Amino acid sequence: MNPGLIAVMASGRGSNLSVILQAVKAGICPVDVRLVISNKADAGALDIARRAGVAEVFHINPGDYPDRAAYDIACGDAIERAGCRWIVLAGYMRILSSAFVQRFAGRIINIHPALLPSFIGADGVADALAYGVKVSGCTVHLVNEVLDGGPILAQAVVPVLDNDSFESLHARIQQEEHRLYPATLKRIIEDGFLLDGRRVIWHTPMSHLQNS
Ligand code: GRF
Repeated sequence: MNPGLIAVMASGRGSNLSVILQAVKAGICPVDVRLVISNKADAGALDIARRAGVAEVFHINPGDYPDRAAYDIACGDAIERAGCRWIVLAGYMRILSSAFVQRFAGRIINIHPALLPSFIGADGVADALAYGVKVSGCTVHLVNEVLDGGPILAQAVVPVLDNDSFESLHARIQQEEHRLYPATLKRIIEDGFLLDGRRVIWHTPMSHLQNS
């Protein structure tokens, strides 16, 4: 299994996939996006992947499988066949089965549009806005069997402004996502980390990276 080979799973627009592919092309993110899977036939992510020349781009239709477990087995088999080391969730709007999470334990990464552990779930941006927090942001984390509950790899903070709408706050958060996701993937591949309980301890301290 090549350490830089990744599979991306996405359900929507695909802007995070797009910035990852751009960073790869620019030579600043040392991953090889070998496979893109979507559960939605009309996901923008599928077009983005095809246009970028990703080797394997699949719409895998949940309607073709009797249940979540069978669907996740099909996705997992495609990922294994492609030899991917990491599974990167980029707006993948399906809950993963426990069996899938166990099959790829410690190798699934997600980005969430809020500062975890606050505002888990599908409405992180709207929930943070409605709650009235003055900062929000995004979180890149490992996926475990708890919804949005895996160890935190990286976070970025943005202000919440008094005149923010859902759209303006989401746009500000996505700007940070687009910086943070490729940078975190690069760090995973180049430096690596170990886990101390829930804590992710990077092999190379951030201060070293900033000074180099
Ligand atoms: C992002 O905001 C991400 O945090 C969330 O889903 C959204 C996906 O956006 N998990 P895109 O499809 O990458 O544009």
